[in-house]
Amino acid sequence: MEKKKLNIGLIGLGVIGSKIFEIITDLESHNYSKLINVKTIVVKDLSKKRNFIFNKTKISSNINDILDDEEIDLVVEVVGGESPAFDYISKCLKSGKDVVTANKEVMAKRGLELLAIAKNSSTQLRFEASVGGGIPIISSLKNDFSSNKIDGIRAIINGTTNYILTRMSNEGLSFREILNDAQKLGYAETDPTNDVEGFDSIYKLAILTNLAFGAKVEIKKIYREGITNIKNKEFKYANELGFSIKLISSVKKINNKLLLRVHPALIPIEIPMANVNSVLNMIEVHGNLTGPLWFQGAGAGPDTTSSALLNDIFRIMDGISKSEENKTKIFEEKFSLINMDYHNSKYYLRITIKDKAGVLARLSKILGDNGISIHTVLQKDTNIELKNAELVVMTHKAQEKIMLEAIKKIKKLEDLVTFDSLLRVEEY
Ligand code: HSE
Repeated sequence: MEKKKLNIGLIGLGVIGSKIFEIITDLESHNYSKLINVKTIVVKDLSKKRNFIFNKTKISSNINDILDDEEIDLVVEVVGGESPAFDYISKCLKSGKDVVTANKEVMAKRGLELLAIAKNSSTQLRFEASVGGGIPIISSLKNDFSSNKIDGIRAIINGTTNYILTRMSNEGLSFREILNDAQKLGYAETDPTNDVEGFDSIYKLAILTNLAFGAKVEIKKIYREGITNIKNKEFKYANELGFSIKLISSVKKINNKLLLRVHPALIPIEIPMANVNSVLNMIEVHGNLTGPLWFQGAGAGPDTTSSALLNDIFRIMDGISKSEENKTKIFEEKFSLINMDYHNSKYYLRITIKDKAGVLARLSKILGDNGISIHTVLQKDTNIELKNAELVVMTHKAQEKIMLEAIKKIKKLEDLVTFDSLLRVEEY
């Protein structure tokens, strides 16, 4: 028996919306138009020139053209951001339409509300495309760890920052120089704040934490540090010491509490994640039975995001997700979060200091008095004229709070010229 064609509404016709429309209507490669009909597309600006043949698809700037159309069964939302996306998604769900979205911000901030609305209106909300592009991480966390307790997740989940860090490392150029180029090439947005300051990563981390631990996470409480202050010298020295630098997003369960953090970190070069370069993402999930599992692939881009969106559409069409969603609780459990002060890590620090007798002893005394043990010291770039030297110090493990106390004292050292960098080292 021939399947009934699914009528869908599409909200947003930017890069991802255009790709989805192109794939569905491309008769030669996919033939999805036999199964799916894009009935209506809602866009912000109707007057914008678009190079599409829309045939019977209606283009509108009024969301009611989707909401009031009883023939539309499913809506794909790809506008991004919290507002008006929350309003659109909730109204679609309430009017009996299933929703598939790529929107990590709305899912991180208000996903639980939206999932509750979906449950109450017997509709489905699927969001595989919101984290890791085409990497099937959401479906895996929902389905494939039932036998496990998850201890932690650690990930590179932002393609833009990984692209910038990879190029800084390979080319020895500054953050600004690579960012400018990345913007020209379309790898970074005109306003790159969301990516480079780590907001995109905390949204994705909150979604993964909800699925892995059933924890409702307040975004503002996640420790967040972006990549804008990393200097290119750090890549050279980190490399010499056997590390690469990545923007890490991590959640770890410690004594029934969670520590969530997003910040740049040094990763030992022999660890797979240290070699995940350019726009690639990697998500490492630690199950108590599976041990660490690594999911790697293109985490952003029109094709890979469309892959996740289409898979969600097909799951809804196949009726698979009805039974799956029944298994998926709407998690509201409140875990208390551990403050970053209590994070334990090794540290990399670089300072410029007067190159004279006793300076190293005074620096190591501060660290020693705070119970911080030094692992390695490198003296670099001695400037004979200025009588300055650069010191790169790797410590053993210390608590963040104690390390920051020691840094305050180092900053007061009489012989200090500049305090250049402090980076954490990931433990494996
Ligand atoms: N700006 C995001 C990234 C896009 O760079 O990963 C996908 O969420």
